Amino acid sequence: MSFDHIAPIYNIGENVFFGNRLNLARTVFTDELMNSRSVLLLGEGRGKFLQELLAINHCCSVTIVDSSTRMIRYQKSIVTKANFDRVNFHCVSIETFSTNQKFDLICSFFFWDCFTVQQINKLVPFCSTLLLTKGLWINSDFIDLMNHRNDTNYFKIRLLYLFFHLTTGIRAWRVEPFKFFAEENGLRLLKIDETKKNFISTELYQKII
Ligand SMILES: C[S@@+](CC[C@H](N)C(=O)[O-])C[C@H]1O[C@@H](n2cnc3c(N)ncnc32)[C@H](O)[C@@H]1O
Repeated sequence: MSFDHIAPIYNIGENVFFGNRLNLARTVFTDELMNSRSVLLLGEGRGKFLQELLAINHCCSVTIVDSSTRMIRYQKSIVTKANFDRVNFHCVSIETFSTNQKFDLICSFFFWDCFTVQQINKLVPFCSTLLLTKGLWINSDFIDLMNHRNDTNYFKIRLLYLFFHLTTGIRAWRVEPFKFFAEENGLRLLKIDETKKNFISTELYQKII
């Protein structure tokens, strides 16, 4: 799977189809973003969130894991010289990423929808080991109600999957409920911001063990 081909048009697609709604979802828990010191971003895309994070938190160090060379290039292009020392880029798959560092915040935005249940089952336990006890995890994704086939959102998500399947080669066809995997791996749901109309949900978790 590679997002290299669609990286140049990724922001245009996002703006046309969702306006500012995805960015609002990414930044809904502002206090937690402002107070974190070491942040791990999983699959950051074009760097929209990175830009917001660096603007509201002037102290945190940021580690990005993204398997797309082009996405990483775009992310680097939005980091100013003053911030360059506090952002570490890892152009690898999360499946092969390794580090000794622990983080007090992990952010995964519209990331787990790229993976099958089998992949998520392996990757969430691994990512959870990278989080400090009491550390926070913010996750945003689409709400994919498989039993609501009359809902227009159901068809929008199917179309998104068809597009990403053809352009990136992802193997997933549905958005798995992250809450299930989080709770299986020592994370407790603290807050949820859910806009059914926009079919997007952002959840804040804390690692309890
Ligand atoms: C659907 S995009 C989401 C981008 C961004 N987080 C957002 O909110 O729009 C998925 C991102 O994850 C990256 N990605 C996909 N598979 C990955 C993997 N196995 N390891 C690391 N990054 C991956 C892609 O390159 C892309 O930047």
